[in-house]
Amino acid sequence: MIALFDSGIGGISILREIRRLLPTADAVYFGDTANVPYGGRPAADIIGFSRAAVEQLLPYRPSVLVVACNTATSVAISALRDQYSDLPIVGVVPVLKIAAERTTSKHVGVLATQATLSSVSYQNLKQQFANGIQVLELAVPEWVTFVERGELDGPAVERSVRMISEQVRAAGADVVALGCTHFPFLRSALVAELPGVEVLDSGPAVARQVVRVLTNNHSLPSATESGRVTWLTSGPVKEFERYAERLLRS
Ligand code: DGL
Repeated sequence: MIALFDSGIGGISILREIRRLLPTADAVYFGDTANVPYGGRPAADIIGFSRAAVEQLLPYRPSVLVVACNTATSVAISALRDQYSDLPIVGVVPVLKIAAERTTSKHVGVLATQATLSSVSYQNLKQQFANGIQVLELAVPEWVTFVERGELDGPAVERSVRMISEQVRAAGADVVALGCTHFPFLRSALVAELPGVEVLDSGPAVARQVVRVLTNNHSLPSATESGRVTWLTSGPVKEFERYAERLLRS
């Protein structure tokens, strides 16, 4: 059993990648839609919400917990690892290392939440892997709102994506890292505005890490498992389930 949580629906972009590698894995996903967005909140709130999310997931006896949210990972993962020391925990961070390796212009963009960009762990990541690279950091909270309400295209999305793309181009960035798990659902709109710019998301790297952890624990799913996903949310359940299933298959 793989357990995941996010502030809302965004972590499904991670679950989708995990299921590409482990199609029969059973999973339980908690979306904290009563408290979304996390990205503009103080650290103490994000840590509290993250602990409450883990408590929802523990009864399912997961072999691994995926913090499928950059914001919760950046702010709360060490508190979670301290508290739940027996549980393997995998987090998600912007793929700055890969972005720094791929750029030829030496300018990259990171799109994330304000809480992620201000966190000590993100600043450390940047220092470690993006030395000598100019990093354009943009907080884009409205993209979280778009994805939460199911608005993945249309004039408002296009306008916002165009504005962000102009800033990316003006900075001379040739690689952009999506540092929020909601953003892969707007990826095609962004790619359309940024020809020649590589847009990276963290999902594939997180999925590979989950496979490594399960392999080491001898808890890889067998081919006969059902691949069932159990949906949990702090908000309205029916609506969440319907939208979550749709995103998972997108
Ligand atoms: N999906 C979350 C992330 O990866 C954050 C969205 C939010 O709640 O602000 O950062």
